[in-house]
Amino acid sequence: MWSDWDFGSGRLVSVRRQAIGGSRWLAAAMFAAAIGSAFFAAGAASTEAPKPGIVRKAFGRVEGRPVDLFLLTNSRGMRAAITNYGGIVVELWVPDRQGRLADVVLGYPAVEEYVKASPYFGAIIGRYGNRIGKARFTLGGKEYRLAANDHGNHLHGGIKGFDKVIWQAQPAETPHGPQLTLSYLSRDGEEGYPGNLEATVTYRVTADNALEIEYRATADKPTPVNLTNHSYFNLRGQGEGDILGHHLMLCADRFTPVDAELIPTGELRPVEGTPFDFRTPVAIGKRIDQPDEQLRFGRGYDHNFVLNKKPGEMSLAARVVEPSTGRVMDVLTTEPGIQFYSGNFLDGTNVGKGGKVYRHRYGFCLETQHFPDSPNKPHFPSTILEPGKEYRSRTVYRFSTR
Ligand code: BGC
Repeated sequence: MWSDWDFGSGRLVSVRRQAIGGSRWLAAAMFAAAIGSAFFAAGAASTEAPKPGIVRKAFGRVEGRPVDLFLLTNSRGMRAAITNYGGIVVELWVPDRQGRLADVVLGYPAVEEYVKASPYFGAIIGRYGNRIGKARFTLGGKEYRLAANDHGNHLHGGIKGFDKVIWQAQPAETPHGPQLTLSYLSRDGEEGYPGNLEATVTYRVTADNALEIEYRATADKPTPVNLTNHSYFNLRGQGEGDILGHHLMLCADRFTPVDAELIPTGELRPVEGTPFDFRTPVAIGKRIDQPDEQLRFGRGYDHNFVLNKKPGEMSLAARVVEPSTGRVMDVLTTEPGIQFYSGNFLDGTNVGKGGKVYRHRYGFCLETQHFPDSPNKPHFPSTILEPGKEYRSRTVYRFSTR
């Protein structure tokens, strides 16, 4: 049992809350929504820190249906606000080396803005993350045609992907931290995909300052599945300048070069001697404007890296260090690849939380995934989920400081 967060109009509100475990308590908090946070006003005086656990409030309506925003707070004050519209991570507050929290993901304060125009800010991507060339593939001798939403190719699940649907939400408190389980049934034929697919995504904010994401799915026909999260990070804080000074390390000896439409050519190319060599930490901006064909195709980095690992092994994929705040983000995953996208298509037209303008390269994405266009590349690790089997994938974004 728990009560909805009565948020009101952005003035002082008092909220009554029930812990899921049954113990009741009252909390009073100050909020000023106008400053930008859907849950908290950055810098508001005497804002009472939220208690560890999970609470929800109404987050508006989509297609006439109500959607919610869930606030997951761990015992150290790290918190994530996540909506069941698109499974979007709306806010993610993590400490700097002085212990000051900042919201490190780009996004909007209201759900209507996500519906209107969002370059996938914070969303769950499915059925297939990234591109499938010519929006088609052949499986079991049959050709399937997918929604073509990117220059004749299929991108991020199509016109109405998993980022634009309402998920069923199940909040819970667990010994590992507050968690939110989201479920969605993708019907046979949706966006052109075969089979009914039942997908479940669990977000958890753990005591070691990590946002964990667990993906599961089952299907009643063979179908490609490749789920990911499309958060745009800026470890200085959302809207606080570009990300070119962040230092990136990727555990990848190879990457998958693309053609001019950003479809992998099929080659697994060594990063050695190229601007794609992030095996030791390098500032993102250091080589991004070099005259390199791959950088030209991507308008910067927009490439899948082949992670050095055994199949299915949970391992470190990436580490990002932001020198001025000391924030560090480690990305661990069971996936074989990671898309490093340097926010090249951000151009200042998206105005986000707190009125922040998201200009060119103000955020970067590290999308854990199978390789783009795998359904058309038999030598890439398979993305086909068979009936009777379970798709499982796990990714952790862990925060620390130095
Ligand atoms: C893709 C980009 C695309 C972006 C959408 C990334 O995952 O790799 O090419 O433009 O998503 O915002």
